[in-house]
Amino acid sequence: MLSEKLNKVLNEQIRIEAESSQIYLSMGSWAEVKGLEGISSFMYKQSDEERTHMQKLIKFVNERGGHAVISDLKAPATEFVSFQNMFEELYKHEIFVSASINNLVHVSLEEKDYATHNFLQWYVAEQIEEEALARTILDKINLIGEDKGGLYLFDRDIMQISVQSAASSGPAI
Ligand code: FEO
Repeated sequence: MLSEKLNKVLNEQIRIEAESSQIYLSMGSWAEVKGLEGISSFMYKQSDEERTHMQKLIKFVNERGGHAVISDLKAPATEFVSFQNMFEELYKHEIFVSASINNLVHVSLEEKDYATHNFLQWYVAEQIEEEALARTILDKINLIGEDKGGLYLFDRDIMQISVQSAASSGPAI
């Protein structure tokens, strides 16, 4: 049975994962409007992944006698200064998510809930992958800068990056 405190922080994580999904959906839509299909489909896939992170948490909370509550969400940014800026935001957001997962792990230990602690290890590993992927992409986009030709090639290459990352870290519900 989940403690009240864990039920609360896990519910906060459910909201964060849902907001992550909305943030990437919005980034995908912006990229699509700008005509960069590779980046757009990468973001849509990221958005879908965040939704599975959320669903996995919902199931766990309810299975452990808690109550997963679906709340309203903060609206994501809809415009970005540049692709560089958009990927910076993505990277910063993943760092924020990692910190939040770390805090969850901390609370699970405080509450001596080893089942939750064990469950959270999947998220710890996932965040290592997500941060590394975001960092790799940001490094590439920083090299390209405002170069249109470079951005065109990057748009083609990012399809490959997302296929590789999906193969190595497909989320399981
Ligand atoms: Fe579910 Fe990208 O963190």
